[in-house]
Amino acid sequence: MVIKKVGVIGCGLMGHGIAQVAAQAGFEVIVRESAQEPLDKGLGRIGKSLNKLVEKEKLTREVADASLARLTGTLELADLADCDLVVEAIIEDLAIKSDLYANLGKLCKPETIFATNTSSFPVAEMGAASGRPANMVGLHFFNPVQLMKLVEVVRTPETDEAVYAEAKAFGESVGKVPVAASDTPGFVVNRLLVPYMADAMRMVERGDSTPADVDAGMSLGCGYPMGPFTLTDYVGLDTTLSILEGWHERFPEDPTFVPPQILKDKVAAGKLGRKTGEGFFKWEGDKRA
Ligand code: CAA
Ligand code: NAD
Repeated sequence: MVIKKVGVIGCGLMGHGIAQVAAQAGFEVIVRESAQEPLDKGLGRIGKSLNKLVEKEKLTREVADASLARLTGTLELADLADCDLVVEAIIEDLAIKSDLYANLGKLCKPETIFATNTSSFPVAEMGAASGRPANMVGLHFFNPVQLMKLVEVVRTPETDEAVYAEAKAFGESVGKVPVAASDTPGFVVNRLLVPYMADAMRMVERGDSTPADVDAGMSLGCGYPMGPFTLTDYVGLDTTLSILEGWHERFPEDPTFVPPQILKDKVAAGKLGRKTGEGFFKWEGDKRA
């Protein structure tokens, strides 16, 4: 593999997990945030997660310490200029992501591979914004990154074959099973998962059921680890709404992409899920109250 140094942009729910698994796998990792507070919070989460893995005897203390030693934080995008791979995990907003890729295209070395963790936007548009479409892939990790085994590797018609192969090898080297995906809305998993989550909300809006009953039904009846409402709280209601709004704007005729009113109302009220302590359910730290 040519990848040695990995830049991660965004140290939120997904970025902190991606930075952590890369550092655990032996890569030198630099993670960039837009402000000190989210950077400190994200790095703190990595420390807590590593401690948990040590406590559960999934990692030794030595490996956890060595992983932390390979990880640095920065507020300067220019510090990522010499990275071999940059994985972007900032908020789900195509205009903000495109601005970022335009800057990355100007400052990174020519061979840097760009990988977006977007849940829903066209990878090709970010490649075009970077000015280096051949270097662009999607690396779509799943939440929580430390535990979920899948990574979707998304190639666009412009993606260079060697870049795709290298990105796939990176996914494997951080312990994930790569699945090839085309640059279509939601790739494989979210194209099925997000309309299912929205349908569950519509069921509750119609008064057919309650979030607790729907979740019990899908957990106990189908063996899902979480029902759709707990899962939406876990993913973030803001992120789920951004996904649906983005698709609805592009495909207004498709009824499965219409954002449910109940989701819009909760986001407007600041009830974003586990990260704010309330979404469809109340949360105490990482656990359902
Ligand atoms: N790091 C280290 N340890 C962690 C951790 C982390 N990030 N997150 C959880 N753990 C630990 C917990 O602390 C817990 O330890 P204890 O047993 O000591 O308490 C252990 O892992 C198990 O966690 P939980 O108690 O929460 O129990 P669980 O058995 O429900 O497992 C889960 C958690 C793996 C997340 C499981 O519930 C699950 O698979 N849920 C579904 C998640 C899912 O579908 N994710 C995909 C979301 S969609 C997406 O990501 C794509 C998108 O673009 C939106
Ligand atoms: P989040 O809100 O938890 O984290 C985003 C972070 O990006 C924040 O900490 C924010 O401060 C930071 N940020 C914003 N602009 C930035 C910039 N220009 N430079 C550096 N940092 C910046 O969001 P998240 O849930 O981690 O989602 C991140 C991406 O991953 C999104 O594209 C999302 O769709 C995708 N994703 C999310 C999930 C999920 O379950 N939440 C799963 C897979 C993929």
